[in-house]
Amino acid sequence: MSKLRVLLSAEQIRTRVEEMGREIDLDYTTGEPVYLIGILKGACIFLADLARAMKTPTRLEFIGISSYGRGKTSSGQVQLTKDLDVPIEGHHVIIVEDILDTGNTLTYLAKLLAQRHPKSLRIATFLDKPERRQAPVKVDYVGFAIPDEFVVGYGLDYAEDYRNLRDLCVLEEI
Ligand code: IMP
Ligand code: MG
Repeated sequence: MSKLRVLLSAEQIRTRVEEMGREIDLDYTTGEPVYLIGILKGACIFLADLARAMKTPTRLEFIGISSYGRGKTSSGQVQLTKDLDVPIEGHHVIIVEDILDTGNTLTYLAKLLAQRHPKSLRIATFLDKPERRQAPVKVDYVGFAIPDEFVVGYGLDYAEDYRNLRDLCVLEEI
């Protein structure tokens, strides 16, 4: 059996994501579009809110990566499951991730996308679990740093469940 405990309320999330949109706007002032590349599926809800919090013109793109399987721990093996539909060469790119955990996913993806010669490449993550890091990753925008607990909601799942919760919750075993 498991139980949900609210860690970040929908209201706290909304306020912070609005702020992140303003932070990003300050960094992009040329009027060129920024390609927001969401990592499927967890980042889709954060990406939708972040894009609307920004005034900078955006393009929304998605890439599929799997590292977790169905459990709570990463397999460590990162695989591309769906590539981008468009070239990113010469464009400003922000990788948008739900949570930075071991760092394996973002390390792999940042390297892959850098090889495609974007004009600039940054990373925005909704959550960061710094205690869990195995690979060092430089992130540019972080929503919240959280303790090492398994969380669901606001796009994050456990075996594909709970993505549509408005609050971010800790999934506790009882
Ligand atoms: P990393 O490669 O270990 O940094 O893992 C990042 C991915 O692991 C995220 O995109 C999530 O899909 C998944 N993940 C890590 N921690 C959690 C969690 O607490 N809840 C749900 N998914 C998580
Ligand atoms: Mg997941």
